[in-house]
Amino acid sequence: MRRPLIAANWKMHLGRAEEALALVRRLRPALSALDSVDVAICPPFTVLASLAEVLRNSPIGLGAQTMHWAESGAHTGDVSPAMLAGLCDYAILGHSERRASAGPGASDEAINRKVLAAVEHGLTPIVCVGESAAQREAGETHGFVSRQVAAALQGVDPAAARRIVLAYEPIWAIGSGRAATPAEANRTIGITVRGAVADSLGEGAAELTRILYGGSVDADNITDFMHMPDIDGALVGGASLSPDFADLAKAAAAACDPNR
Ligand code: PGA
Repeated sequence: MRRPLIAANWKMHLGRAEEALALVRRLRPALSALDSVDVAICPPFTVLASLAEVLRNSPIGLGAQTMHWAESGAHTGDVSPAMLAGLCDYAILGHSERRASAGPGASDEAINRKVLAAVEHGLTPIVCVGESAAQREAGETHGFVSRQVAAALQGVDPAAARRIVLAYEPIWAIGSGRAATPAEANRTIGITVRGAVADSLGEGAAELTRILYGGSVDADNITDFMHMPDIDGALVGGASLSPDFADLAKAAAAACDPNR
């Protein structure tokens, strides 16, 4: 049984305390009332501490959008897992926007080190994988995404499967308004992503690992994604930046099959 997760990825938005707090105060009552899904908000670093305060004693999780793997050190601008543990619950790792911009800090090897460090510090990594439009057209999705998953999970203890979340985010679907079809996302998540988790951690662990879909998810299409048996929730960018995110999360909760 995998409990679905709806995670908001605010990206580089709402990073001033007053705007972040205003939105979270509006979302909090509706999101706190959902009992069939977990919900998490991943804001910019600048407001993590303020939101941690507001969300204390609520079931709403809090996450960072990236982190370094080291405990501390000469890494200007980076934030360590030890700094995040205690402040938040999740860390998005390997988002395609960071893989594209962060150079060696976002290589497969670096992401693997971050995954291991997150687990060690009690943070739940949300590990993003996904192919580009060109890779998809060339028929490379399965091979490429499988390799990303295998690389991210190297050395992970299968017993940690419940505390690892993957997010399949085809790059062509992110911020494009052109989501994958639920059937296509379900197939890639089931066969490619869950298959690669099974190869790395074993079938039992793969059954326990939550795998989200991300890429142009909104309040209108979330229900169809949630009805898919291999899709365990969503990582939501643009549609998480307004009070309407509560409607999206409510629709996701309503669509959850209680027997999944
Ligand atoms: P989007 O972003 O929902 O705006 O497509 C999703 C993501 O990048 O995580």
